[in-house]
Amino acid sequence: MEIIICRNAQRVGEVAAAKAARIAAAVGPGIVLGVATGSSPVQAFAELAKLVAAGELDLSEASAFALDEYVGIPEGHPQSYHEVIRQTVTEPMGLDPARVHVPNGFADDLAAACQAYEDAITAAGGVDLQFLGVGSNGHIGFNEPTSSLASRTRIKTLARRSREDNARFFDSLDEVPRHCLTQGIGTIMDARNVILVATGEGKAHAVAQVIEGPVTALYPGSVLQLHPHVTVIIDEAAAGELALVDYYKETYATLPDWQRLEV
Ligand code: F6R
Repeated sequence: MEIIICRNAQRVGEVAAAKAARIAAAVGPGIVLGVATGSSPVQAFAELAKLVAAGELDLSEASAFALDEYVGIPEGHPQSYHEVIRQTVTEPMGLDPARVHVPNGFADDLAAACQAYEDAITAAGGVDLQFLGVGSNGHIGFNEPTSSLASRTRIKTLARRSREDNARFFDSLDEVPRHCLTQGIGTIMDARNVILVATGEGKAHAVAQVIEGPVTALYPGSVLQLHPHVTVIIDEAAAGELALVDYYKETYATLPDWQRLEV
């Protein structure tokens, strides 16, 4: 894993966007993005939108696949991930809405919707660059602790902690759905590049488990240790429980200039 520790959350977004733009330039205009919702990637997405607006990045031929969607919330609902992705990705980054995909959590046949989602990712040629956040319990996507590390897109029950964490987007905890459709861990691991962003001390324990803990379904993000192209971009607060923080900083600071971004 490449570990980049930035001085603050703003810088995390800027560095994540710069890293993503480099990958996008290498892959080409038809890049397939994997996109997360939640707070973590918002700054990075806003920075990417600035690059698009400045004419430095063209995503008009790109495709995108969201990680997950709540079950039972219709598409236009303000907290549906369809809507969140439209507002944070599709419109600001100038993607063609026809090429932006979110699992259909309102389908009559949820299992068929999950298979259709897997098929659509395959038909698009797989994900070139997956953005991830991490839950305070170590989840990636909504693959909660003890999810199969080989899982594919499927229905999951949200952990109570995840519902509590996401209650800030709803009027009350009771309104937070109990189920979701999520890309599986196996699906996420098929992405060719992964950028995971995390900020704030609430993520420090999960980040330490993901980077330095054993590979275990108890902290699903730890499986990323088995992925060949993962960059973890975090602020000082989220780095607070890492044992080897000095090592990561020194390693990054001594990279050749052309490889390094200002952190
Ligand atoms: C979002 C997702 C989740 C979040 C995670 C962190 O699509 O799949 O794994 O990335 O819950 O959420 P935030 O960024 O809101 O702390």
